[in-house]
Amino acid sequence: MSGVAKPLDRQWWKESVVYQVYPSSFLDTDGDGIGNINGITSKLDYLKELGVDILWLTPIYESPQMDMGYDIANYKAIHPPYGTMEDVERLISELKSRDMKLVMDLVVNHTSHKHAWFLDSSSSKQSPKRSWYIWRPARYDEDGTRHPPNNWACILDEANSAWTWDPETEEYFLSLFTPYQPDLNWENPDVREAVYDILRFWIDKGTAGFRMDVINLISKDQSFADAEVADVSRPYQDGRKFYANGPKLLDYLQEMKREVLSKQDLITVGEMPFLDDEDKILEIVKANEGPLNMIFTFELMALDEIPGKGKFSFRNWAVSDMSAIIQKMSRVVANGGWSSLYLENHDQIRSVSRFCDDSDEHRVAGSKLLCIMQTTLTGTLYVYQGEELGMRNVPLSWDPEEYKDIESVSYWKYLRSKYPTGSEELRKAKELHNRKARDNGRTPVQWDDSPNAGFCAADVKPWMRVNDDYPTVNAKAQLASGRATPASDSVSPYRFWQRALQVRKAHVDLLYGGFEIIGDTDPNVFAYKRTGGGQVSVTILNFSGEEAEFHLAEGLKVDNWVLGSYDTSSAEKPKEGVIKLRPWEGLLGVGRE
Ligand code: GLC
Repeated sequence: MSGVAKPLDRQWWKESVVYQVYPSSFLDTDGDGIGNINGITSKLDYLKELGVDILWLTPIYESPQMDMGYDIANYKAIHPPYGTMEDVERLISELKSRDMKLVMDLVVNHTSHKHAWFLDSSSSKQSPKRSWYIWRPARYDEDGTRHPPNNWACILDEANSAWTWDPETEEYFLSLFTPYQPDLNWENPDVREAVYDILRFWIDKGTAGFRMDVINLISKDQSFADAEVADVSRPYQDGRKFYANGPKLLDYLQEMKREVLSKQDLITVGEMPFLDDEDKILEIVKANEGPLNMIFTFELMALDEIPGKGKFSFRNWAVSDMSAIIQKMSRVVANGGWSSLYLENHDQIRSVSRFCDDSDEHRVAGSKLLCIMQTTLTGTLYVYQGEELGMRNVPLSWDPEEYKDIESVSYWKYLRSKYPTGSEELRKAKELHNRKARDNGRTPVQWDDSPNAGFCAADVKPWMRVNDDYPTVNAKAQLASGRATPASDSVSPYRFWQRALQVRKAHVDLLYGGFEIIGDTDPNVFAYKRTGGGQVSVTILNFSGEEAEFHLAEGLKVDNWVLGSYDTSSAEKPKEGVIKLRPWEGLLGVGRE
């Protein structure tokens, strides 16, 4: 792709900082061990103080919670343990009074199997809602054994089929994620109209935008052909070629834009797994022409995966791989698109555990390094609850029975059936399971050092176990660490994030300026400069537990070190020439060329 970069349009949704709340694990104020809406409302000042502009709530709708709310039974009602519609309305008005906004999660690739539409659809082949979902007859062997319509594997349980048999009407329905999440048939215009109705309902309530769940899966290749057999040891195969980025994806999204989105000034972000091609990405996010403001891509999240081996694999990644991905997204922006920045969410492990070293010795420096990176790159910034505290993965010592996520539970069951108890294979697989389970990002937020970390009352059992490190890693202790000042960064991750967000807001070039990788001397150092308005800012990140050196090119001079993983006040840091970096040290300097 080529093209001359045009000056970037300033937009509120580019400059806003979005904070993602996973409601069940945020804060319980009504004593059932599950977080709730009123708990979120009670922490808005905490978020405002941090520098947050927009709150993104993962699904709070009525749901049997087979996949933690990503299985919606009623888009216009609230899951009772979270509260009521009045609680949500109060949350919206409390946000407004703080000049903050709300983003809702739009999950419309599928519904819950308990949604009225699906109950109707599965009631008989003649149901008027039959064609709202994707039904297909079985295939049979010569000996009469029944098989699903094709060989696609289920996304959250690869050992099983993406199709679920309905014994009542004797057909299979497509359920890409779990049997409890039947895929909607977007080919049917009534389905699309029903989705627009949901969007309008939430816009009328005062929602400022949507995060669209796996939205690039809505158009399926209508051949429903078998996927290539890439792994002979598995009965079901990866069918993404047929269900991701399908032939009508752009048409559907453009229609949604025409019918609903374009009528308001909204923030829209599409979650798009299995999409790495920059031209295709640009088609979706190109200013004015594309249907969405930005998307979530997944390449950074797969850095530590062995290609083709699935998420429960691990490899050591190289800084050069990370750099290539970030350069690609900055080209998308330079060519007129926009991007999002995130290193964590409810589907991912904790970033300090993934990209740095979460030991007591290095956790704080690592979280600050990741904060510096995210606050000095182009794109709308998304911070996930607990990331501002440098929360880490759960310890390997936990029994996998502690995990609640349907994906981790199914995978553990599969591992138990595959490897003998006490075997070396099972031990290794358990390690990978612990390293990659989505549960790592779903433990309750650690508010203080009281029992249950202040997430719920001491005598209540939290829905999910609290990470054992809460006596030291918690918000109360981090708030007490005092505000960061330009002279001293030796503060808590929360205080550090607070200052880094202020710095980002004060230097729009960190958002809109030119982007260029600098130096390449040490393979573990990732460094780049941002330019604009006669200034240059330099970010230098040592992604290793070893000391490193970075050579500032001749002519490049830092006037001030503005942020650093360690204290930057000490006059130790030279402003030109060779910069010595400590383990996991990140630095931001502002200067001249
Ligand atoms: C998205 C959600 C994830 C969910 C899946 C199916 O990836 O973020 O939590 O399991 O979609 O809805």
